[in-house]
Amino acid sequence: MNLDAMPLDVERIRRDFPALAREIRGQRVVYLDSAASSQKPESVLRAMDDAYRCYYANVHRGVYQMAEESTAAFEAARAKVTRFVGARSSRELVFVRNATEAINLVAYSWGRANLQAGDAVVLSHMEHHANIGPWQMLAEERDIELRWIPMTDDFRLDLSTLDELLRGARLLAVTAMSNVLGTINDIRPLADAAHAHDALLLVDACQYVPHVATDIVEWDADFVAFSAHKMLGPSGIGALCAREEILDAMPPFLGGGEMIRDVRLDGFTTNELPWKFEAGTPAIVEAIGWGAAIDYLAALGMTEVRDHEERLTRYALDALTERFGDAIHIYGPRDVSIRGGAISFLFDDIHAHDISQVLDQRGVCVRAGHHCAKPLMRRLGVPATSRASFYVYNTEAEVDALVAALVAAEAFFRI
Ligand code: ALA
Repeated sequence: MNLDAMPLDVERIRRDFPALAREIRGQRVVYLDSAASSQKPESVLRAMDDAYRCYYANVHRGVYQMAEESTAAFEAARAKVTRFVGARSSRELVFVRNATEAINLVAYSWGRANLQAGDAVVLSHMEHHANIGPWQMLAEERDIELRWIPMTDDFRLDLSTLDELLRGARLLAVTAMSNVLGTINDIRPLADAAHAHDALLLVDACQYVPHVATDIVEWDADFVAFSAHKMLGPSGIGALCAREEILDAMPPFLGGGEMIRDVRLDGFTTNELPWKFEAGTPAIVEAIGWGAAIDYLAALGMTEVRDHEERLTRYALDALTERFGDAIHIYGPRDVSIRGGAISFLFDDIHAHDISQVLDQRGVCVRAGHHCAKPLMRRLGVPATSRASFYVYNTEAEVDALVAALVAAEAFFRI
């Protein structure tokens, strides 16, 4: 907790989000699913609407005024994203569709250029499928060995065998914040350990960047993947941030317009970074919306954002344990200083989907299922959990509404 942080004015913030005024079955919506995707403020909607209404044109192509305005707005958004995560330069910030595509880009381009049969990639038991699937596909194709950092019983990475796991490995790929457990992984020591073994570090920062001030240079990460839609921006755009020298050495991923400088009948030369990896017309208006989302978060202050979420997460963990005691299983650390605001839970003998359906009757939106983290579900010994997750617009009153809805759900299934 940061003592200098001013509390967020959540009632004012809520007025900026039209979707939060919505009623579901006669009750004000309680949106507790921001780890899946966040709601969007008016400023993001307006920036995108303005772009379409006033100056929309393709980027990097036309020399007329609207095309220049559109290009300037698109590249200004890239500069904002670059600054927001502390990347060295916009050349290191490639726009992609989402974090999943960012990791696939690394697996296809860097992985296929650098990994041979017998090489090892180290992952962890708490990865999202986005940071498993691309490596399993490569492992099948190239006979790569996948190794796994296990998890402790208190929901943290078990680093006791990390040195052994990294011996001979080429890449360590881990999440900065688990989408199921909320666990925050300390990235810098992982980068140091990977580099000591001449391996690169890839960070899935999809759940982290929206909630915690991020400095990827301080992380010393080689690849960082994240997306706009979890941080008040639109869906359809994300970023891969990587060291310039690594991106320079990587072969292109998708071929087509924009990523190419010259094409002859007998070959092509690639464009400069970051456009070398941006084939085709990009998500222009989505980038502009993402820039507006970053302005919104920056105006709130990321220290304040983090502080608000720590408070709310502590309030929710206390409220759930006080009300349900041993009847509720919460999967994730209790210490809010090492976790984010995604809280996964389960009641004995009640399926997570049943719980979330009853919550929906009261307008409470939570995600239920395996959260695209099946190896983690297996490690936890459960098929699914319910998950409530918080963001800048959530309140203690909404946590109370969640608890009240859970009381009703539990009573319903226990009859
Ligand atoms: N990865 C997102 C989630 O955890 C979709 O819900």
